[in-house]
Amino acid sequence: MPKYRIAWMPGDGIGVDVMDAARLILDELNLDAEYPHSDIGWEFWCKEGNPLPTRTIDLLKTCTCGLFGAITSKPKDEAALELAPELQNKGLSYRSPIVGLRQLFDLYTNLRPCKAYKGNPLNYKDDIDLVIFRENTEGLYSGVEFHPLPDEVRELITEHNPRMSRFDDVPSDEMAVSLRVITNKGARRIIRQAFAYAQNFNYPTVTLVEKPNVLRETSGLMRHIAREVSNEYPDIELWETNIDAQMMWLLKNPEDYGVIVTSNMFGDIVSDLSAQLVGGLGFAASGNIGDEFAVFEPTHGSAPKYAGQYKVNPTAMLLATKLMLDWLGESEMAERLEKAIAGVIADGKISTYDMGGSNTTLEMAEAVKERL
Ligand code: NAI
Ligand code: MG
Repeated sequence: MPKYRIAWMPGDGIGVDVMDAARLILDELNLDAEYPHSDIGWEFWCKEGNPLPTRTIDLLKTCTCGLFGAITSKPKDEAALELAPELQNKGLSYRSPIVGLRQLFDLYTNLRPCKAYKGNPLNYKDDIDLVIFRENTEGLYSGVEFHPLPDEVRELITEHNPRMSRFDDVPSDEMAVSLRVITNKGARRIIRQAFAYAQNFNYPTVTLVEKPNVLRETSGLMRHIAREVSNEYPDIELWETNIDAQMMWLLKNPEDYGVIVTSNMFGDIVSDLSAQLVGGLGFAASGNIGDEFAVFEPTHGSAPKYAGQYKVNPTAMLLATKLMLDWLGESEMAERLEKAIAGVIADGKISTYDMGGSNTTLEMAEAVKERL
């Protein structure tokens, strides 16, 4: 039996194109793995009313980790219209399968490295090497939201926090509230992951990006725990910054930062800005990592207008594959793959349309393969 069982989830649109590129590389690397195909995405929403079928979840439970391409998702009304006729008006509602996977498998770390590979014409600046750790399961995206705010909840909040009285003249149905839930456990485990990564990959600093002067409780808790965890890592310096100022500094001196750790929504924002600094969607890879399971993906979507044209940049997908190899402990293969990708970019002879070139997805992947 192969050493690894990797759930193969191309999903929709260009997810299929870039996963073909990843397979070319994994086969060349001779990774000791099998790749069972897993159904996920829009097709299964339309045909079965579920973009993440139960058989896929069962299959994932038998796998070491998953590799994921991209999925299509559409607004509620449109989604309902595309359901097979026999499934319509049955109260089915679309939920993003990737968000579902994160919650189901408690994939609490969203890892987003953003490195400016030399020679990439899309780099904002040279020498950028950021690694973002975004908490993936709680914070403002916990999903605990109210609109209208129920009277009982409102009364209790007012009783426990006098600041709520400021809104006394606002009717409950004219008020929406989203809770920013941060737990000790959630904060500690993401911050630990960030420090451990900094240690493993020789980053001298971990920057906690929050806003504790305003969000005194939630960001305050993140800061408290970051200080505690940093005591376990005397060789790594903890920097603390505010999210707003950090956005300016990332544009001004992105090369000053290494590992960044933050809560869910701030992480969402920092990740996209940082991705753009190093070439945008064609270069942004991410890992959704838990204690037992992980799913690796490019962060771009299914780009329907390019689906099946093998035109898009496979680099994000190949970097996601590199992250997977790191996570599996196949460091030597991960390093070879990253060097090969960096080599193709530096060489500049083969590139896809987003980089100003005219090569196909698979030509770029072949070029990487030749350098392995
Ligand atoms: P998108 O990421 O699919 O594409 C936006 C544009 O970015 C593309 O038209 C293309 O010009 C460029 N692009 C994306 N990937 C590229 C690559 N590898 N190389 C070169 N250029 C690339 O985002 P969009 O158009 O907003 O969404 C399309 C569909 O994807 C929607 O249904 C959306 O819900 C879904 N989506 C899925 C995600 C996921 O699977 N994780 C993430 C984002 C969107
Ligand atoms: Mg985002």
